[in-house]
Amino acid sequence: MPSVTAASSVPRSATAVDLPVAADELGELPPELAQHAERQGFEGETGQTLAIVADEGQPTQILVGVGPRDEVSTTSLRLAAAALARAVAKHEWVATNLVGQLESDQRAGAISAVVEGVKLAGYRYRGYKAESKPAVERVTIVASGRGIKADLARAEALADAVVLARDLTNEPGGSLTPESFAAKATEAAATAGLGIEVWDEKRIGAEKLGGLIAVNQGSVNPPRLVHLSYAPEGAQTRVVLVGKGITFDSGGLSLKTAAGMATMKVDMAGGAAVLAAMTALTAHDVPVAVDGYIPLTDNMTGGDAQRPGDVFRARNGTTVEVLNTDAEGRLVLADALALAAESEPDAIIDIATLTGSASGALGTSYAALMANDDDLAAALTAASDRTGEKIWRLPLPEEYRPQLDSTVADLKNIGAGPYGGALVAGLFLQEFVADTNWAHLDLGLSAMTDVDKGLTVGGATGFGVRLLVDTLLRWSN
Ligand code: BES
Ligand code: MN
Ligand code: ZN
Repeated sequence: MPSVTAASSVPRSATAVDLPVAADELGELPPELAQHAERQGFEGETGQTLAIVADEGQPTQILVGVGPRDEVSTTSLRLAAAALARAVAKHEWVATNLVGQLESDQRAGAISAVVEGVKLAGYRYRGYKAESKPAVERVTIVASGRGIKADLARAEALADAVVLARDLTNEPGGSLTPESFAAKATEAAATAGLGIEVWDEKRIGAEKLGGLIAVNQGSVNPPRLVHLSYAPEGAQTRVVLVGKGITFDSGGLSLKTAAGMATMKVDMAGGAAVLAAMTALTAHDVPVAVDGYIPLTDNMTGGDAQRPGDVFRARNGTTVEVLNTDAEGRLVLADALALAAESEPDAIIDIATLTGSASGALGTSYAALMANDDDLAAALTAASDRTGEKIWRLPLPEEYRPQLDSTVADLKNIGAGPYGGALVAGLFLQEFVADTNWAHLDLGLSAMTDVDKGLTVGGATGFGVRLLVDTLLRWSN
């Protein structure tokens, strides 16, 4: 991943430098360059790039499209910066003029967009590879004026948070255990100035987190519950974030297929998003207090694994008949949501790779939003429009609620058939939030990707991190 600095002019040693071009301003290029661009099919569309080979000793020039002039925004700059990072992957040092494409009163947003674009498109998971695909090492943002350093620091805290979420999510299920996740959270919390408390299996038992215990029964790895806290002075409002932390989902005794299981290290992506988003709150001076709950376990098939038909009692006293052990996310979230609701916050937002059904409805690039409060749903939707992490609201239909009635317990953990699975899962969660304002983000398959496109590269996407930070940042006390 590239390191980013700012300077008031293009550094002499830069090996590449960009030339931003609006789609309706190609005519303003020197005629030779304009002709060349046209021959090469470069039209200045957002995300288009064209490298111009330079004379010996001169930096390579990269034309970068920013789309129509009057539509240039932080969104288009973010994508243009991502495209630039890809175009210069084999360069050592690129200088970018993209920030100058927006008016100076939007400089902080422009800097953030460029940092997000180059760092996230230039992200490589270095875990276990002898060599990874090349990525540009240094990026210099050409900009001047007061407060640049502070703008850059804030932008980097956000991009680094997404990187943290991706690194955690890309880590194999066999090496990222509940304990090691909690250890990494402890480290990250210390660096970011957050409070943290980690509950071990004994405490989890004493606190009656029956869903987390039930899912953990088939595992040799003990469960953990991570509680993060951010409490700025003077905050009048408190929001609780809850993230699903299944470090690997085999399905349990309701075992997944080999293909269905292959990517299931991703199943803690919601938990990673909560931890990561919270690491950016201090740097961004977020005005509201935030707590984060991350229930952590893997879902395995060991000798005492929960059996289909088993019943447990959740934190809030509700009993649940588990008819499919692969619907485990809702069981650990039930306890965490109940804990959150007990503390009577102003709002709860949970984020989870909860169902394949969410992607059945919306495809793989959208996350599903469900909410019992229209203002909260609107705040998340507005944040999504700004960050480019796409979400779409689905209903919580009261008429499907009877599907969760059980003959032996208060609830069962699956619905009646193959349809509307994301909605039924949402209705299940709703049973544990009491009357708290609540929104639920079902990531489905948006937590990972096969394609290098926009801000993402193959692997974990870090979906939700920027969305949560933006939502909290705009919250008025
Ligand atoms: N973690 C999965 C959901 C999932 C699948 C997320 C694929 C991302 C990609 C979840 O625990 C699960 O297995 N859900 C089941 C629920 C069903 C058994 C009611 C599903 O979606 O099939
Ligand atoms: Mn599952
Ligand atoms: Zn799962």
